[in-house]
Amino acid sequence: MVEPLFIGQGSSPLYLLPQMANRHGLVAGATGTGKTVTLQVMAEAFSRIGVPVFAADIKGDLSGISRPGTESQKLAERMKKLKLGNFSFAGCPVTCWDVLGEQGHPVRATISEMGPLLLGRLLNLNDTQEGVLTLVFKIADDNQLLLLDLKDLQAMLQYVGDHAKDFQTQYGNISAASIGAIQRGLLTIQQQGGEKFFGEPALNLDDLMQTDSQGHGVVNILAADKLNESPKLYATFLLWLLTSLFEQLPEVGDPEKPKLVFFFDEAHLLFSDLPKIIEDKVVQVVRLIRSKGVGVYFVTQNPLDIPQTVLGQLGNRVQHALRAFTPQDQKAVKAAAETFRSNPKLDVGKAITELEVGEALISFLDEQGTPGIVQRALVCPPHSQIGPITAEQRQELIKNSVVAGVYENAVDRESAFEVLRSRAGQNAPATTAPGQAPASPPWYANIPGMSGSGRRGDNLADAMAKSAARAMGSSLGRQIVRGVLGSLLGGSKR
Ligand SMILES: Nc1ncnc2c1ncn2[C@@H]1O[C@H](COP(=O)(O)OP(=O)(O)OP(=O)(O)O)[C@@H](O)[C@H]1O
Ligand SMILES: [Mg+2]
Repeated sequence: MVEPLFIGQGSSPLYLLPQMANRHGLVAGATGTGKTVTLQVMAEAFSRIGVPVFAADIKGDLSGISRPGTESQKLAERMKKLKLGNFSFAGCPVTCWDVLGEQGHPVRATISEMGPLLLGRLLNLNDTQEGVLTLVFKIADDNQLLLLDLKDLQAMLQYVGDHAKDFQTQYGNISAASIGAIQRGLLTIQQQGGEKFFGEPALNLDDLMQTDSQGHGVVNILAADKLNESPKLYATFLLWLLTSLFEQLPEVGDPEKPKLVFFFDEAHLLFSDLPKIIEDKVVQVVRLIRSKGVGVYFVTQNPLDIPQTVLGQLGNRVQHALRAFTPQDQKAVKAAAETFRSNPKLDVGKAITELEVGEALISFLDEQGTPGIVQRALVCPPHSQIGPITAEQRQELIKNSVVAGVYENAVDRESAFEVLRSRAGQNAPATTAPGQAPASPPWYANIPGMSGSGRRGDNLADAMAKSAARAMGSSLGRQIVRGVLGSLLGGSKR
């Protein structure tokens, strides 16, 4: 059995059990009450038992986890209260990531992997527009045009718009207004740095699940301070990451410790005006990802920021202080109190408003998976540094990381944009008439097993092509993966 993780001290010590850590968790509390440090304490503990962690660092204050902490009067007092005898400072192995590629290794996804539903949300599309976007993806698939980056999608939209009439019989009506709306949306995304995010090399999820030479789990920190200015990109990216992990990881049942733990700080950003259909999928993914050995921890100011259906699945809970000034606040306190298994010796509602910084109401799941009786507890100090590292220290981390050099340079291989451009240039028929084979052999025609004319039939060549694509792990493989993801993320919609 993996040793339990000591997180805080109440009337008895409070342990987060590794075998229950995939039953998810919640860290809540008003601003400045200790949520991020609690996250840090938990993340370190996971790292020490060899569990890799992924956390989005919204305020930039989590990077200190990479360096040993230092003595201070306040910490000494806390250690004394907690009777922490042999406490030693230590940092964790850290990999920095950044969607904008500035404060960490660039994280990218292809348009194809993202799929029409998440993109539709990113672009604020209405149902009709999203329907058109879905068709555009389908036409690209049927014509074996790869959608990798923004300009692929832009070229594809233009192509479909210009030939709307030709596609009408097979795909239905494609309105110019909808195409225009999607194109305008893409421009906005481009201006927000989306150009850097969409493309290749796309993030290999295995790179998030590393351990170092001492067997400690790598803590992956996503710089999200700027992303916070475009919350939709942040939310979309994280939802994509979660669903991709779900798609790609094998079932493991109930492991003795998680394969990966995910922390969503400022989780309210994820759920604010989330369309019902995506919310339902998030609920579903959160429920099912447990059996893949992934624990998901939401960190937020107010538990009411998180949909009830998600909240109900968060077994391990740390509630820091809440204010109770307004009726709205009082409602939150009441709601938070009601989620705990009551403790006859503790007035939970009252305690929530009295807690000091770094103090919390804690209830972790026991060996049977039952929530422990809630206790008022002092959270341990982190072994690592509280607060951010310097820009130089960050550069050092980036330079020495296990993925240094892997993602730095974007690759722009032949995909929809290039193919469509060259077709137009050759004055070849610009469209593949629906239902027919592509006009010219596609780029992958020379790959054995890939010369089948598409994904329409269920014939043997087709099946072989699919498995070859999967085996290659190519973008065509991803295209198919996205098809699976697409079915998870909204196939039911229309
Ligand atoms: N467990 C702890 N051990 C030692 N110090 C702590 C602990 N928890 C909180 N603190 C102190 O309190 C400060 C504020 O905590 P923290 O940054 O975690 O708050 P927060 O709830 O994340 O705030 P915000 O909502 O602004 O992000 C920390 O910088 C640290 O000095
Ligand atoms: Mg914080």
